[in-house]
Amino acid sequence: MKITVIGSGHVGLVTGACFAELGHDVICVDHDKKKLQTLKDGKIPFYEPGLDKLVHANYIEGRLSFSGDTISAVLASEIIFICVGTPSRKTGEVDMSAIKKTASQIAQALNGYKLVVEKSTVPVETGEWILKTLKKQAPKGVEFDVASNPEFLREGAAIHDFMHPDRVIIGVSSQKAASYLVQLYSPLNAPILMTDIKSAELIKHASNSFLAMKISFANMLANLCEKTGADVVKVAKGIGLDKRIGEDFLKAGIGYGGSCFPKDVSAFIHIGKKSGCNFKLIEEVRNINEERRMHFIKRLEKVIGKFKGKTIAIWGLSFKPETDDTREAPATYIIKELIKRKVKNIRAFDPKTMDNMKKIFPNIIYSKCPYEAIKGADALLILTEWKDFSHPDLLKIKASLKKPIIADGRNIYDPQKMKRMGFSYIPIGRL
Ligand code: UDX
Repeated sequence: MKITVIGSGHVGLVTGACFAELGHDVICVDHDKKKLQTLKDGKIPFYEPGLDKLVHANYIEGRLSFSGDTISAVLASEIIFICVGTPSRKTGEVDMSAIKKTASQIAQALNGYKLVVEKSTVPVETGEWILKTLKKQAPKGVEFDVASNPEFLREGAAIHDFMHPDRVIIGVSSQKAASYLVQLYSPLNAPILMTDIKSAELIKHASNSFLAMKISFANMLANLCEKTGADVVKVAKGIGLDKRIGEDFLKAGIGYGGSCFPKDVSAFIHIGKKSGCNFKLIEEVRNINEERRMHFIKRLEKVIGKFKGKTIAIWGLSFKPETDDTREAPATYIIKELIKRKVKNIRAFDPKTMDNMKKIFPNIIYSKCPYEAIKGADALLILTEWKDFSHPDLLKIKASLKKPIIADGRNIYDPQKMKRMGFSYIPIGRL
């Protein structure tokens, strides 16, 4: 099929490249000329494992192309995926400006039946709004459908998640739209759940909010474990073995970040409250998450005393491993707080994220390797559980640090072993 994907970011580019890999003709559209040139030069403007090879292979074979012209791309396609950004406003409400602009552009290019699919994470009832906009602005009599097909891609595993989804959610209001999308997704051999458009839109926000709730539940447990002397890792394991709960997303730490959970939780709260529902449960998910950063700082402060004049080493800047994304990364909040407390130096290392972090914090010291970052530091903070940090030379760390203090925001080390090695080791939710 001929497909246009509007928005070539973390979702759109993966979606376009994977559909091309499945044999479709795909045009990835973006209004950012610099990004388009980067893509045409065979480079990817962000780190996503395997995406460079997938994009390049399909680009070379002519199944994937890039364009800055939305209208001509839509004119040439049967299915249009809207994958533009839907960032949060200060109120938590979703900024729909990109969706609105895209819908108007699509309306001008409806020259025969087309299926317009919202894949961006949007508030419930957006599909209805797009339908009305297209009806109002499209040429009279032209036939089209709107559908919702939310994405469940994790950064760092996006290609895998696209090609091997737990489920495909298709929200449609016509049989024709349904058959197009079933034909498109059948090769993935995954369960396809057909719903109305509004339910599909809600499934996305509800999924992310539920996953975020599991994380905040684990973090709430961690606080109790710190008070009672229990071990949150063992408690999480114990509850997670119940198949009804499941082990995933119960890792306590410094909280969730990224471009999705914070935004989607806030959007869900906004939608719930606007609809007159009691969403205090989800508000607490956000509150618990926001408290994690200061909680971590205070736990460290109890061991090193005042931060003023100290040198702090940081391993891990991205919001999670296998990405260079700093959006809402806990590290950004923790670094801001350290600067506020007048640390003398921050020396950071991250395998992929330092260039992006330099744009936010140009004045911290970025080290070429993890061990350079810890030289002479008063403490080492682990903020992202990159594989690079999982089996360090503990003797070398001990010799390099001014004092053997490690605050482990992602519980990647064994507390007993760290204590045996003579570290003042500060985990989360465990002694
Ligand atoms: C998430 C959803 O998983 C994905 O389905 C959706 O499409 C987009 O949002 P992503 O934001 O890429 O994906 O990352 P994810 O792996 O879900 O982690 C989100 C955050 O939660 C990270 O900061 C991670 O460190 C944190 N996390 C995750 C925890 O703190 N504890 C956990 O147990 C799991």
